Amino acid sequence: MTAAVELRDVAKEFPGGSRAVDGVSLSVDAGTVFGVVGHSGAGKSTLLRLANGLEEPTSGSVLLDGQDLSSLGERRLRTVRREIGMIFQQFNLFRSRTVLGNVLYPLRLAGTDRATARARAEETLDFVGLAGHGKRYPEQLSGGRRQRVGIARALATRPKVLLCDEATSALDPQTTGEVLALLRRVNSELGVTILLITHEMDVVRTLCDRVAVMENGKVVESGEVYEVFARPRHATTAAFVRSARHSEPDAALLERLRARHPGRLITLPVADGRPGPDGLSKLLHAHGVDFTLVHGGVGEVRGRPLGSVTLELRGATDAVDAVVAGLTVADRVEAGTR
Ligand SMILES: Nc1ncnc2c1ncn2[C@@H]1O[C@H](COP(=O)(O)OP(=O)(O)O)[C@@H](O)[C@H]1O
Ligand SMILES: [Mg+2]
Repeated sequence: MTAAVELRDVAKEFPGGSRAVDGVSLSVDAGTVFGVVGHSGAGKSTLLRLANGLEEPTSGSVLLDGQDLSSLGERRLRTVRREIGMIFQQFNLFRSRTVLGNVLYPLRLAGTDRATARARAEETLDFVGLAGHGKRYPEQLSGGRRQRVGIARALATRPKVLLCDEATSALDPQTTGEVLALLRRVNSELGVTILLITHEMDVVRTLCDRVAVMENGKVVESGEVYEVFARPRHATTAAFVRSARHSEPDAALLERLRARHPGRLITLPVADGRPGPDGLSKLLHAHGVDFTLVHGGVGEVRGRPLGSVTLELRGATDAVDAVVAGLTVADRVEAGTR
């Protein structure tokens, strides 16, 4: 299958020598949602701008639907770029235009006739839940609605690909949830391929099929979202995953738990292919150790279980030691102990 968006060993060096993107290869299959996560300055925005031809790579190639952007003339490039919509953290709407005017803008640019453009714009506003808001101005709308206008404007020309640059980073958690739900519909109902960048792993968990983690212009890890969440390999990935696995106690919570629970605290990851508490019960029984469940939970990532449980083990020190040793070796679960 031809990838909707493909980067082959792409680098982008800005004058002054900073390498914003440094040898990135990635492939976004048509109809999927691909997330790129990374801290500020990692090179994510530059990567998106390379993907839609706003920036030219210093080396490597960018392909849309199998076509190398560098091989296209100015005219063809414009046509191909019409297949790509883009939304931004700060929405980037025209303040002086109405909601309808904003959505009509790309249609006018594309030379769509007035009547068709009008019908298309209204239909798109309806899809994003803003039917009847066409005459209002962006400033009269909440942040969530402004982003919906941004999405409608990006979708008006019916692109095959939507690029999202931190699209929910300026929104509160509730509004973020609504916008992510809308983006999910854009993918599932309209079949639009989505390439999004974010610094929030929760966005990846909610929306993406695959994820790549970027650091200093490079992709340090990539894979299917559940696999990356369940078994992160790179330290940066592990830190991002922890930020979205609310079941794992952070340092401050661990201190409070220790103050309340004098016994040994262990945290067991629970995931597909990991026995979690099942293997534990046999060990506890064998060594005469009791436990109290003090924190944690198991949720779902892409329909599969993921989470962790934190237990206080109570019993003779030797027996507790034996349980912890048994877990680590026999059940291949890391026991976060002290
Ligand atoms: N137009 C530019 N000129 C020079 N340096 C740039 C330019 N755009 C981005 N950079 C630099 O490239 C690096 C990556 O930036 P960016 O792609 O915006 O990262 P992110 O979106 O992950 O925060 C940063 O060090 C930034 O300062
Ligand atoms: Mg950015």
